[in-house]
Amino acid sequence: MIWQVGLLGLGTVGAGTAAILGDPAGRHPLLEKLHLRAVGVRHLHKPRHLSLEPGVLTTHLESIATDPEIHIVVELLGGLEPARTLILAALQHGKHVVTANKAVIAHHGAEIFTAATAAGRYVLMEGAVGGGIPIVQPLKQALGANRLHTVMGIVNGTTNYILTRMAQEGADFAAVLQDAQRLGYAEADPTADVDGWDAADKIAILASLAFGERVKRESVVCEGIRAVTATDIAYAERLGYVIKLLALAYQRPAGLDIRVHPTLVPQAHPLASVNGVNNAILVGGDPLGEVMLEGPGAGAGPTASAVVGDILTAAAALEAGLGFHPLLSCNHEGFAETLPLAQIASRFYVRLLSQDQPGVIGQLGTCFGRHAVSLESIVQIGHQEGLAEIVVITHEVNHGQLQAALEDIRALAALQSVPSLFRVL
Ligand code: HSE
Repeated sequence: MIWQVGLLGLGTVGAGTAAILGDPAGRHPLLEKLHLRAVGVRHLHKPRHLSLEPGVLTTHLESIATDPEIHIVVELLGGLEPARTLILAALQHGKHVVTANKAVIAHHGAEIFTAATAAGRYVLMEGAVGGGIPIVQPLKQALGANRLHTVMGIVNGTTNYILTRMAQEGADFAAVLQDAQRLGYAEADPTADVDGWDAADKIAILASLAFGERVKRESVVCEGIRAVTATDIAYAERLGYVIKLLALAYQRPAGLDIRVHPTLVPQAHPLASVNGVNNAILVGGDPLGEVMLEGPGAGAGPTASAVVGDILTAAAALEAGLGFHPLLSCNHEGFAETLPLAQIASRFYVRLLSQDQPGVIGQLGTCFGRHAVSLESIVQIGHQEGLAEIVVITHEVNHGQLQAALEDIRALAALQSVPSLFRVL
């Protein structure tokens, strides 16, 4: 039996996927049993560096989702619509679905997986998180013996590239972003990456897989990297840290602690040395301990590697005649209770500018102490325009407590401003 594949989208990852499907030699033998029957595109006559069989291109995307000859629909359009509608249509028409679309899964996963279960079909999404890094299948299968408590990582290559260059060159965010856009490492509209939305989509998906409950995307606390300055990166380095955009999810006794934010990571931590466009995901659980997977988090080849792996999994299930496989399906329905921002605890780095006069550090210490914020270190590092620059690292404290202390601090006569506030791992 030949398994017919329909591809929705022929952008970077779509073209990478079509290229692998068209050149199966030396890969898994099951690839020889796959045939790319149709490819849905927006413009039929756009020049493409790809040899496809004549007649496979169509602009009627709906016809791919409903074609009775197609067994596996691969959605690589990105964005919420028409991806959501086409995925639901494909499931209703009895197809397994493979997608690399983190946004549609993070925002509409509950609806999509409920529809998949009702249809007795799978929605596979290895390419949605971490590009070529296998993480979805390990969380669903190989790590299933563990009580997982932590998933964290660097899941956005664009911001990791920008932060890496800022650290290497001592350059500011705006200049590096502009250069990254010129070189094609950042999109013309960089919002989803630099404001952390892409990473928030991905950690919502990972947390849901790791902890067995659905996660409402809007409950992910999300801060991007626009506020990270060359000054903070330099101070962090002097204190033994690098600044990374981390996506973190912890299963706490009081609920799910899930967030994306720039973070001071100790230089000796394995995530500190993940640089450039690479991604890395660290999973912690019992009895495993910790495991970290690192690799290329985006791009045609790596993401197509994940997508074709999923197509093979779907084809293997079809070969085996499996209508339902508990390790491939989504087997949870409830939504996780997430902790509100005020109750999320972490260590903090605070940079303050104040008049350089006696007693200021004492006053700061009093304000922190009044709100039970315990300090790990407080140092006056340098000067800026006649003002003293003071950097504080706290012990673990709730966000709400820290904000209350900062409110008191902002009212001090000697205090000029609080330019930076970041969390510390
Ligand atoms: N925009 C993403 C990133 C790639 O920069 O990592 C696709 O998920």
